[in-house]
Amino acid sequence: MLLSPLQHFSNRIVMAPMTRSRAIDNIPNDLMAEYYSQRATAGLIITEGTSPSPNGLGYPRIPGIFSEEQIEGWRRTTDAVHAKGGKIFIQFMHVGRVGSYENLPEGATLVAPSAISAFGDMFTDTKGMVKTDTPEAITPDSIKDTIAEFVQSAKNAIAAGFDGVELHSANGYLLEQFLNPNANTRTDEYGGSIENRARFVIEVTKAVADAIGKDKTGIRFSPYNDFNTMPPYDEVYETYEYLAKEMNKTGILYIHLLDGAARKQQKGLELISAMRAYFNGILILNSGYTKERATAAIESNEADMVSFGNLYISNPDLVNRFENDQYLTQAEESTFYTPGEKGYTDYPVYKE
Ligand SMILES: Cc1cc2nc3c(=O)[nH]c(=O)nc-3n(C[C@H](O)[C@H](O)[C@H](O)COP(=O)(O)O)c2cc1C
Repeated sequence: MLLSPLQHFSNRIVMAPMTRSRAIDNIPNDLMAEYYSQRATAGLIITEGTSPSPNGLGYPRIPGIFSEEQIEGWRRTTDAVHAKGGKIFIQFMHVGRVGSYENLPEGATLVAPSAISAFGDMFTDTKGMVKTDTPEAITPDSIKDTIAEFVQSAKNAIAAGFDGVELHSANGYLLEQFLNPNANTRTDEYGGSIENRARFVIEVTKAVADAIGKDKTGIRFSPYNDFNTMPPYDEVYETYEYLAKEMNKTGILYIHLLDGAARKQQKGLELISAMRAYFNGILILNSGYTKERATAAIESNEADMVSFGNLYISNPDLVNRFENDQYLTQAEESTFYTPGEKGYTDYPVYKE
């Protein structure tokens, strides 16, 4: 079942988005093109989190998609993946408050729905570990500008040869910061009620879908996940139920759901089924899946596709290994975010 095709995709195995911090000066390079092309047999590759704005570059060596150089750089990746018959979406990750000024280019500002710090530690190439900086509360004008940046970057992504864009509304970054009332204490139309907290996410989604096509747009959510200081709140269920219905109205291609935290609670299990029921597009599930669990999820129609993170770091030929029940190599954590090819492009394909 995992290997059966789906409209748009040759199989149901997705490479999950993973920050790998190899983009020196925030510009995608040949090494990255090689890494992604090694993994081109996935039904869909979703790139590492890529910033649609200078303000969203809170981590070191993450790529952007807002300058000509970045567009040209990414073209090498899309060309290399397409040459092998693969499909590739770019993930738009605007970090919002999860960042340090040490990592931002000159003139950029750390922005978030409210001036509340993420209270985390952050790696910088210049000073090692530092505390995340306190963001500025984004102004209504700046909200409009940020949406415009998402739109321009989506057009850039298509110009760079991507098959589509995934909006990162998970794991505590800018879009999710609007959803969570602990990070969003605004009193204007972007804060307070569920409809208000969801407004930015919906506006960005509609604007991107209008610019590049709804069939080229997907979004990632992580309900109940507290990663990057996202404390739980009372209306998680209702917030995501509402989002699933609104996403369905936009007609976007997929929802990519990190379901690990939700599965740990009764209401969360119900939420996964509710989102599946309300959203008629493709549902991709993720978090700790094995071949067996993924096959079961697709056979029971709980999902259309399943994405794999860790396994894709160390098994470039994951599709082939699943198909032939070959052993899986474990990923080496110490090289997740280090520059260079070690632990990046040097994982071999299966050998007897
Ligand atoms: C090194 C690393 C970097 C990651 N970077 C991102 C990212 O940029 N965007 C994102 O949405 N998720 C990111 N994730 C989360 C993965 O997409 C995925 O949700 C997670 O690894 C769980 O899936 P798995 O159990 O198959 O590994 C990252 C995970 C890892 C291991």
